[in-house]
Amino acid sequence: MESSSVDKLSALINELPKQPWYGADLYNWKGFWYRPHHLSSTMAASSNFQAKDDDVILTSSMKTGTTWMKAIIPTIMNPVGRTDDDSVDPLLKHHPNELIPSLEIQVYSVNPHPDLSNMVSPRLFRTHMAYPLLPESIKTSGCKIVYITRDPKDTFVSTCHFMNSVIAARGVEPWPMSEAFESFCKGVHTFGPFHDHVLGYWKESLKRPEKICFMRYEDMKKDPKGEVKKLACFLGRPFEKDQEVEKVVWRCSLERLKNLEMNQHGVDPWLGIDYKHYFRRGIVGDWKNHFTDEMKEKLNQITAMKFEGSGLDF
Ligand code: A3P
Repeated sequence: MESSSVDKLSALINELPKQPWYGADLYNWKGFWYRPHHLSSTMAASSNFQAKDDDVILTSSMKTGTTWMKAIIPTIMNPVGRTDDDSVDPLLKHHPNELIPSLEIQVYSVNPHPDLSNMVSPRLFRTHMAYPLLPESIKTSGCKIVYITRDPKDTFVSTCHFMNSVIAARGVEPWPMSEAFESFCKGVHTFGPFHDHVLGYWKESLKRPEKICFMRYEDMKKDPKGEVKKLACFLGRPFEKDQEVEKVVWRCSLERLKNLEMNQHGVDPWLGIDYKHYFRRGIVGDWKNHFTDEMKEKLNQITAMKFEGSGLDF
């Protein structure tokens, strides 16, 4: 970026509301919270990305099961995902982050006008941008959006484990769960507020179900085959045989992915985070091992209040 643009960006960032989060600062831009290094790339992607009609865009708030979908969507879309030959599975050599690039973390992180002309269609991208911030072309073109969300209580617990592991690797003390909880309840966390993020996509998915597939982590855990079949139909890649669905579900399972060499020892080159941190317990209701009754009541009340009348609950 030219130095005048960097100066303008720094001036803009300094004007934005700021809050501490896991030993760093978050900035609020257009109602959502960002780390400064994600902010410039989010702004660039939001203004400059041109979607194509056959793109698939995975969207989510953080720690809601995105990595699972980062594995499943490419496996559904890539013809080798359905072959019997497991040795050609791209997941063997690539962490799911590498199979579906992030607009703000990868594609727009270096250059606000990246050359995407060499990408083969259908292109797959992901983003943590909230619905109102999505590039206009994603909203108006024929591309499909897949949104994944999760019970906010489990999302919060997953975020605590992930972020404390990430900052521990940099020698930073863990952020006490009680403080992180207050912050989450106020909506202050990267890409949050969680509830606003979910509501934006939920409301749009009700208006345009052919455009946005709204998925929940809990449904995926309960009936992975059924959910993967539905997703494949939504993406225009229905399965012909039951064995194909079983293959996709197995290839993308937590048990398999977390034990692959790449995912145990690799490091994300864009974020500097060990890939192993993306795979933890993967259960529904882990919050019960961490929450007091007061925490449960408080977050349930916020969720009920925020989602009231929307038809959405957890
Ligand atoms: P837990 O921390 O509760 O274990 P994200 O991918 O959005 O960062 O979400 C991370 C959560 O998804 C973590 O939850 C992680 O263990 C879980 N996860 C990652 N890969 C998964 C998979 N293949 N199947 C099920 N859950 C998965």
